[in-house]
Amino acid sequence: MQVLGLDIGGSGIKGAMIDVSSGEMLTPRKRIPTPEGAEPAAVADAVGQIVHHFAWSGPIGCGFPAVIKGGIVYTAANIAPSWVGTDAARLFGEAAGSSVLLLNDADAAGIAEMRLGAGRGRGGLVLMITIGTGLGTTLFMDGHLIPNTELGHIEIRGKDAESRAADSIRTHKSLSWSAWAKRFDEYLCRISSLLWPDLIILGGGGSRSYEKFASKLTAPVEVVPAKLRNEAGMVGAALAAAEAFPELL
Ligand code: BGC
Repeated sequence: MQVLGLDIGGSGIKGAMIDVSSGEMLTPRKRIPTPEGAEPAAVADAVGQIVHHFAWSGPIGCGFPAVIKGGIVYTAANIAPSWVGTDAARLFGEAAGSSVLLLNDADAAGIAEMRLGAGRGRGGLVLMITIGTGLGTTLFMDGHLIPNTELGHIEIRGKDAESRAADSIRTHKSLSWSAWAKRFDEYLCRISSLLWPDLIILGGGGSRSYEKFASKLTAPVEVVPAKLRNEAGMVGAALAAAEAFPELL
């Protein structure tokens, strides 16, 4: 049982065929750089190219960096404002010629990490933070997803937390790991004092360098790196689509 998993990000659009019973990637991932401006028509075109690459006509799961309800995009923190109000599930479905389940990118990564990675078997309140172009968050209570949390946008020192502590800020401002870690730790301490999670999982591209900043984290909560790292978004999106479209498998 296969599903095409897609992950739409600020810098790249990635896809791979996923075995939805094991969560394994069945093919190498195909990546296309996100088109300049990331406008809906151009992104839909890139989605169509990836679907064509895999010659796939079955169900598709797609993570997208925004609040998503019923396939519709509600926010645009790191994407073109013209996305707001767009039925992106329909747009991508037309580009792909098949059924697309759309969900928030961090929620997609969280689903994979909870089923197959660092969150496996973990009850209580688990928060996963994806460190990338933005700060994505996903929350699970006893394994159940609470979708569309946007906790990367809490205010810290009068600013959107994401604009201080995302991985893109570290590279853009040429911050040392230690300088960035101080900012990120402040974020972790604040979020912990608001939510009191039992576990925080760090995912996204930034978590690949976990060893470079782990020793600087002081938040009084168990913090672990994601196990699936950057494939989690594609895998989780595929798993969610398999559940949404059982009749198409
Ligand atoms: C968006 C979230 C998204 C996160 C990671 C944030 O800017 O508001 O919806 O999950 O970036 O891409």
